Amino acid sequence: MAIGLSRIQVFPKETVLFRQGEPGDSAFIIEDGRVLIFLESDGQEIPLTVLGKGEIFGEMSIIDGRLRSASAKTLDESRINVVSKDQLLERVQTADPVVRLLMTVLMNRIRQSNHQMGGRANASIDNFDDKGAGEAIQRIRLENQIAAGFENNEFNLVYQPMVTLSERKIMGCEALLRWTSPILGSVSPNEFMDLLEESSMMIPVGSWITRQALSDLEVILNMAPKNFQMSINVSGRQFTDPKFLSEMRTLVIQHKVPASNVKLELTERVFTDGVLAFSAMEECRKLGFSISIDDFGIGFSSLSYLAKMPVNFLKIDRAFTSRMIDDLKTRAIVRTIIFMAKALGIKVIAEGIERVEEERMLLEMGCDYGQGYLYGKPAPLDQLLGRLE
Ligand code: C2E
Ligand code: CMP
Ligand code: CA
Ligand code: CA
Repeated sequence: MAIGLSRIQVFPKETVLFRQGEPGDSAFIIEDGRVLIFLESDGQEIPLTVLGKGEIFGEMSIIDGRLRSASAKTLDESRINVVSKDQLLERVQTADPVVRLLMTVLMNRIRQSNHQMGGRANASIDNFDDKGAGEAIQRIRLENQIAAGFENNEFNLVYQPMVTLSERKIMGCEALLRWTSPILGSVSPNEFMDLLEESSMMIPVGSWITRQALSDLEVILNMAPKNFQMSINVSGRQFTDPKFLSEMRTLVIQHKVPASNVKLELTERVFTDGVLAFSAMEECRKLGFSISIDDFGIGFSSLSYLAKMPVNFLKIDRAFTSRMIDDLKTRAIVRTIIFMAKALGIKVIAEGIERVEEERMLLEMGCDYGQGYLYGKPAPLDQLLGRLE
């Protein structure tokens, strides 16, 4: 027997490879020969199909973990590649849940139809495990609701001020997406951003976000300090979209706002997107946009990345700000981040500041800017404009 996950075996003519109703622990690829897939009913064989070179079978019970839906036997001497369960299973388990759902649906139809044709093992349609199906259907529903909500203008942007820690002067704001659905009520971005990012909707929604934020920035700049920063959250998928930067360039021209007033918030995840993200970052900087690394510290990127990347700001995640007072280790991490960023000429913004003690500690550590409920919750444009007057 060859070493490895799969191995080729030669089976004489008329070998039964497995029987309907048995548990399955491998799939098969025919290298040479022919295999009959059949049902067994009262000692009778009901042929389903004859498979030949290059075809795969026995995959169903691996994918859905149920019993063999049919029997298989060779019609000639056949060379068959036996594929281990593990080889397939990991791929199935990491597949998109919606794709998994679709596979389950298809397999269930085949099993039902085999059963109706007189397949003997009732077991093949028993114990159907639809765990995960509900969840996947829920995702499809939500995705459709997002798409419909977007078409019905149910999305809007709110703005949260960013201040200088020393004087609490507003130096910018962060645009945050809100969805008010007539069916679901107000839905937090935490509940739909991941799904949105995975779906094809991220590009049109993302493009709407930048258009809205830049149009609002034009209004803001009439009353804000010259160096006011509009921070826009940009998902990895949006950022590496070839059209993103050309759209941004068109928008700053259209709204007559300097690119230096626009800050793009990217998460540490972009570091793992490799060359594409890096060149997009360089391009951004050439066009005059600032780059901020969002949620800094909670990802897995190291400070050494920062030295290589064209980054102007980094944002310490709220998880650190809120824990820093009571937890000495967190405090040490925050202190180190600020120290290192300063050494690299990167400005630091702390997010989620709710208490004066946090502000004081951050100031003492040399943090430049802050954002949080202490200075203002995310609110509609008018409220921000009112504070700038
Ligand atoms: P984020 O980028 O880390 O945004 C900060 C989140 O913390 C916001 O939640 C904000 O409302 C909240 N926050 C700010 N200050 C405080 C505070 O003092 N205390 C507490 N408890 N929370 C505070 P929000 O608006 O629910 O957004 C959640 C996440 O959704 C954002 O996290 C961001 O990752 C994503 N998101 C929001 N809007 C957009 C967007 O337009 N585009 C993209 N790609 N992602 C967005
Ligand atoms: P599995 O259920 O693991 O074992 C029996 C295999 O036969 C099954 O995977 C499929 O590969 C194949 N099979 C089952 N039903 C049909 C059918 N109706 N038509 C063609 N192939 C089938
Ligand atoms: Ca952000
Ligand atoms: Ca955050």
